[in-house]
Amino acid sequence: MTIYLDHHATTPVDPRVLDAMLPFFTEKFGNPGSVHTFGEEAREAVDAARQTIAAAIGADAPEIVFTSGATESNNLAIRGVTERRRRRGNHLVSVRTEHPAVLDPLERLAEQDFKVTLLEVEPHDSPRAGWLDPAHVADAVRDETCLVSVMLANNEIGVVQPLAEIAAECKERGVLLHCDATQAVGKLPVNVEQFDVDLMSFTAHKLYGPKGVGALYVRGRNPVVRLAPQITGGGHEQARRSGTLNVPGIVGLATAIQLATDDLTAEVAFLTQLRDHLAQQIFSAVPDARLVGPALDARLSYASPLRLPNNLNVMFPGTDGEALMLAMPELAVSSGAACSSMRDEPSHVLMALGLSADEARSCLRFGVGRFNTLEQIDRAAEMVAAAVAKVRQMGE
Ligand SMILES: Cc1ncc(COP(=O)(O)O)c(C=O)c1O
Repeated sequence: MTIYLDHHATTPVDPRVLDAMLPFFTEKFGNPGSVHTFGEEAREAVDAARQTIAAAIGADAPEIVFTSGATESNNLAIRGVTERRRRRGNHLVSVRTEHPAVLDPLERLAEQDFKVTLLEVEPHDSPRAGWLDPAHVADAVRDETCLVSVMLANNEIGVVQPLAEIAAECKERGVLLHCDATQAVGKLPVNVEQFDVDLMSFTAHKLYGPKGVGALYVRGRNPVVRLAPQITGGGHEQARRSGTLNVPGIVGLATAIQLATDDLTAEVAFLTQLRDHLAQQIFSAVPDARLVGPALDARLSYASPLRLPNNLNVMFPGTDGEALMLAMPELAVSSGAACSSMRDEPSHVLMALGLSADEARSCLRFGVGRFNTLEQIDRAAEMVAAAVAKVRQMGE
């Protein structure tokens, strides 16, 4: 059986999540927009889910807009704010290591008459590799800046950004802050009030929920954030995102986030244990392998870890990540983000750390998950060591 260590790409649906969703495909199939009892039943389920999700991130229910996932949430946040605040300015600030679901909409805006500043992060040889210094945000923001977008945790190297400090810089300058928290929800305490973000994207399929459903948090007070809708029609979601609501998906997202929040402390301890064990086994079997991204035990100033507990990224000098993956078909890992692996380009995140294209191509990303076991981790490390030896031998 193939061992799955690619939980940054997606996660299996937790059976408890599936159980909660199933009735909404069959007997409770109503459209929440309908006035009859079927509609009412679905509407009640959506209302309860919205409440649960809002409570899990410290928001109010009306601040949650349901979407098809984090890609749509990021697009809605970036395009929705810029369209609405266009008159205030045409400058956006983000980071080189963001996900394509942020970088691509920014690139498209730059093709219009927007100016985009992409900030640099700490280089590969720093114990805080990938970390964004909040002072860079302060320096980059100008009078014409209409939005800053910074992810909470990176999907390749797991680095956790100092969001509260970044938010403080934005607030001081009256600029809105959007955060892509896709990889962080369920692995770190995420609270929109503590972070003081104005918009926040997340998705169900990274936290043991279904694919194709996510949400955007949109601040409803201090300040009220207004968005230009990007999908229009029936005026759903207070006219912020039209389309019949994905009721089973929304129920799944709510159940997944509730489970993740309830068990967060134990889950983080478990994931950290698995991840640290994997690192230990790999580094002892392949002595010249190098950690990529922040140190595993580094911490932010307020005691939050600087790296996601489930993330490990390792460089195997003189190898090629794709070749390594082919040499271990029974281990599911990734040689970059799921989307960049399809493009055959070296990871833009690793390049932003200052790695060469060859170095970036020799890295593997590991993401441990809720249903992995220590035995699987031991076997995975053995497979990695054997694959590295095989690929190096072939290259001689
Ligand atoms: C950081 C980050 N943002 C956004 C996305 C896109 O999420 P979705 O697949 O829900 O559109 C992903 C997933 O690949 C991600 O890791």
